[in-house]
Amino acid sequence: MKGIILAGGTGSRLYPMTASVTKQLLPIHDKPMIYYPLATLMLAGIRDIMLISTPRDIDRYVDMFGDGHRWGLNITYALQPRPEGIAQAFLIGKQFLNGEPSALILGDNLYFGSGLSERLQRAAELTHGAHIFACRVDDPQRYGVVELDAEQRPLSIVEKPRRPKSNWAVTGLYFYDGRVSDIAAELTPSARGELEITDINARYLSAGTLAVERLGRGFAWLDTGTPETLMAATQFVCALESRQGIKIACLEEIALTQGFIDANSFAKLAATAPDSAYGRYLKTLLSELQIDVAPAQLRVVGARR
Ligand code: DAU
Repeated sequence: MKGIILAGGTGSRLYPMTASVTKQLLPIHDKPMIYYPLATLMLAGIRDIMLISTPRDIDRYVDMFGDGHRWGLNITYALQPRPEGIAQAFLIGKQFLNGEPSALILGDNLYFGSGLSERLQRAAELTHGAHIFACRVDDPQRYGVVELDAEQRPLSIVEKPRRPKSNWAVTGLYFYDGRVSDIAAELTPSARGELEITDINARYLSAGTLAVERLGRGFAWLDTGTPETLMAATQFVCALESRQGIKIACLEEIALTQGFIDANSFAKLAATAPDSAYGRYLKTLLSELQIDVAPAQLRVVGARR
């Protein structure tokens, strides 16, 4: 399965924070926002990733991630000249996807929860239809909203409804089979002039192939579209990381535990990391993993957890 991160848009709701810095590079506590969706794709086991951003901002991402090989990834880049809708990602990414199943994640969505990676990895096994995640929210009018029957099967899906039929918001992580680019090509812009991701989901729903998985109480799904939600996400990450001494969305750690890089590569990343809290965390992991850094041949001799 291939992955797309959509990290464009104008960030207008965060102006003037976004006057010269793209929204998805703003910090969520101790790392740029984009680390979180990238970590989510990595936890799903996805290594072949296209990052889509604006002509103004794309070089910032290239500077930061390069081709991704440090984390055992293959990252490529593409431009979205104007924010003409989330579903446009599948037109921009058509050649990259080459008819393979894909996961799309929005660059401002943050997921956290026990057992999340198992759920993501199951979703990433998809070969037919679509799989999306829904989360209960207080203000469904702001989101795509899915109505579910008693067996949790989707009945309807509507973008930003005035009168929502449920409190289940569709989150910004979508898994599709290889037909999604063709479906996106058939869409016409909505009243607000965008190719809507909800219209893609509605197509799969009417074909009877849309699976909706609810993220219940044990999960946090945060989007970061306003100064308040940005601050809430920072406080959430800060509270968890400080209390537990772990890091959320530590790319090097995930790359190691997913088997994308070996202990030798991890040790090099940790050894050369700057002396920040993040860098020190990598060094702590290195010693907790009991990676023997002295000999040329590194090996993991103990698991952390
Ligand atoms: O966060 C989940 C919600 O995301 C879903 O419930 C909605 O169904 C979905 O439409 C979307 O709603 P938003 O109102 O949050 O979409 P927004 O226009 O804010 O775009 C979300 C992110 O995607 C944002 O960081 C900017 C980026 N984006 C958006 C568009 C329309 C792009 O990079 N390009 C675009 O063309």
